Amino acid sequence: MAEKKTYYITTPIYYPSDNLHIGHAYCSTAADTMARFKKLMGYDTYFLTGSDEHGQKIERKAAAKGVTPKEYVDEIVANIKSLWKLMDIEYSDYIRTTDERHIKCVQQNFRKLYEQGDIYKSEYEGWYCTPCESFWTELQLKDGKCPDCGRAVEKTREESYFFKLGKYQDWLIDYINTHPDFIQPTSRVNEMMNNFLKPGLDDLCVSRTSIKWGIPVDFDKKHTVYVWIDALSNYISALGYGTENDELYKKYWPADVHLVGKEIVRFHTIIWPIMLHALGLPLPKQIFGHGWLVFDGEKMSKSLGNVVDPVMLCNRYSSDAIRYFLMREMPFGSDGQFSNTALLGRFNSDLANDLGNLVSRTTAMVEKYFGAVIPAPGEYEEIDDNLRSEALSLPSRVEKAMDQFQFSGALVEIWKLIGDCNKYIDMTQPWVLGKTEEGKGRLSTVLYTLLECIRFVAVLISPFMPRTPARIFEQTGLCDDCAKTWESLATFGLTKSGGKVSKGEALFPRYDIEKELDELEKIKQEQSKEYQASLDKPAKKAQEKPETVQPVKLSEITIDDFAKISLKVALVTNAEKVEKSDKLLKMSLKLGDETRVVVSGIAKFYTPEQILGKKVVLVYNLKPAKLRGIVSEGMLLCAANKDDTVLRLLTVDGDIEDGADIG
Ligand code: MSP
Repeated sequence: MAEKKTYYITTPIYYPSDNLHIGHAYCSTAADTMARFKKLMGYDTYFLTGSDEHGQKIERKAAAKGVTPKEYVDEIVANIKSLWKLMDIEYSDYIRTTDERHIKCVQQNFRKLYEQGDIYKSEYEGWYCTPCESFWTELQLKDGKCPDCGRAVEKTREESYFFKLGKYQDWLIDYINTHPDFIQPTSRVNEMMNNFLKPGLDDLCVSRTSIKWGIPVDFDKKHTVYVWIDALSNYISALGYGTENDELYKKYWPADVHLVGKEIVRFHTIIWPIMLHALGLPLPKQIFGHGWLVFDGEKMSKSLGNVVDPVMLCNRYSSDAIRYFLMREMPFGSDGQFSNTALLGRFNSDLANDLGNLVSRTTAMVEKYFGAVIPAPGEYEEIDDNLRSEALSLPSRVEKAMDQFQFSGALVEIWKLIGDCNKYIDMTQPWVLGKTEEGKGRLSTVLYTLLECIRFVAVLISPFMPRTPARIFEQTGLCDDCAKTWESLATFGLTKSGGKVSKGEALFPRYDIEKELDELEKIKQEQSKEYQASLDKPAKKAQEKPETVQPVKLSEITIDDFAKISLKVALVTNAEKVEKSDKLLKMSLKLGDETRVVVSGIAKFYTPEQILGKKVVLVYNLKPAKLRGIVSEGMLLCAANKDDTVLRLLTVDGDIEDGADIG
């Protein structure tokens, strides 16, 4: 038997965010649909997704919540996975950039590039946008702000490793010019060429010393690998590249396609190919940059209050319906408007009316006129032949649309057959035919033709709506698995006459659109209120967070800035554990004539006895904060190691009186 052709498809790896919205689900739904379609066609398919878990943003969010970065991402990754389950996103593997297998692969690649001279050490100075995790040059800034998100940027200067992107620029331009399918849709090629490649590529800063939550460069541990070099490697680390167990890599690499959102096309079509080429590896066959799902013209974001929650939608309308809408409504390469009106409109017209009615009318008529037994067809007439030909040519039309990632186009083709079947019912008028014996002879051909067309539809929608086909087959009485395959669609006539239909519940309900729109608006308001409340109320854990020094401040400050902070030497005169807290110690501090009470999250590292009599460093002019009902008048400075397993208080070297100023 000939070996199956392979197909390797990926989504981007998502940032663990508690703000996962329908826009994120868009790419995963597309990838899953394509993977299922290829599987249906007989490909040996591999579908990879995962999460991108390093970086300063995560570090800061975890700190704000009072948990470690790993604890923070673990919880969110569990939520991401359950969303994918709810949406029937059936991935072959889920790669996390915190997986040991990934870390090793990144370190190995980094070392190789360094040893062969493609990575070198220098000093970085530039502007950094923390939310976007992107560096910008002075020229790229827009009104002094991040050109992508418009937020403030921070000036950074530090020792860094650089990757010689510039060295490979001409090679990449030539590669893109000679491989027209590499970047799709083609409109994105010009964008890359004109905005990035032709103006010239700067060498890329690929390490940071100020970000602790990242993969350490194994030969220079104070550096962590800069986020894109880390993230992009997931596509091969997941396949075991560079390990003894690299069968998956050998089998599936190069990927057939990386599906990515339009804003990250540049990383995938510039950094990634250059990195692979420098490592001596083949390039993915295609990068497909899809558009964004926008809500009222804006990208979704919780702060704008326009986030559409996929969990709520799937629970309310079924994941198949949501998947259908996502794939039908937007042409894949361009931005698409998300609106509740469009969503409900599609449910009623395409799902309840067109598809639902076709199945229920057909099965109802088999029940009514043939006692639910599927009749054998008689002679076909021209009108039947037309429908048969349309059904038989449908798979290749769907395949053609899918080859171009035209998910919506493929569904349009399928719905054309559904629409023509409904017209066929109107034209053949089964309710008239059913009145006479002669008419019933003709009716058997009509109903059989309809059941076969429904079989074609059910098989072809299975990649888009994985649950619906089984429900259709249950109603049309199709049990034979061989009649549910891609190959089976080469033959019209595999439905077995003599089998039984059973008209069940409507496949899709019809909604009262006005009422439903009101409900959705209420839910949105509710979710927005909850979000606002969560901003006003810090997480419980965060209130107990040990007062460790926050991750390195990036921006330079002036001596005047520093002068705003008052640090003083303080003597611990009393210390006790705070009730019902295993982290907090309450201390009395003497500063000359003054006494202060401070609560600090150091109980896991110091007993009250150990701390008594120590001279510590107090941030004296910090606004007081209430911890467990106790007003804490300042903060003690501590140093903690990377994973917070060791924490030591800062003290003064030698004898100095309490209350003394530090500075
Ligand atoms: N972690 C990077 C990707 C690294 S891949 C080596 C990242 N993550 S992300 O979570 O911010 O975005 C993941 C994907 O979701 C991107 O392709 C992005 O375009 C997509 N989307 C996020 N919001 C979207 C919409 N509103 N609409 C469609 N896709 C959107 O980028």
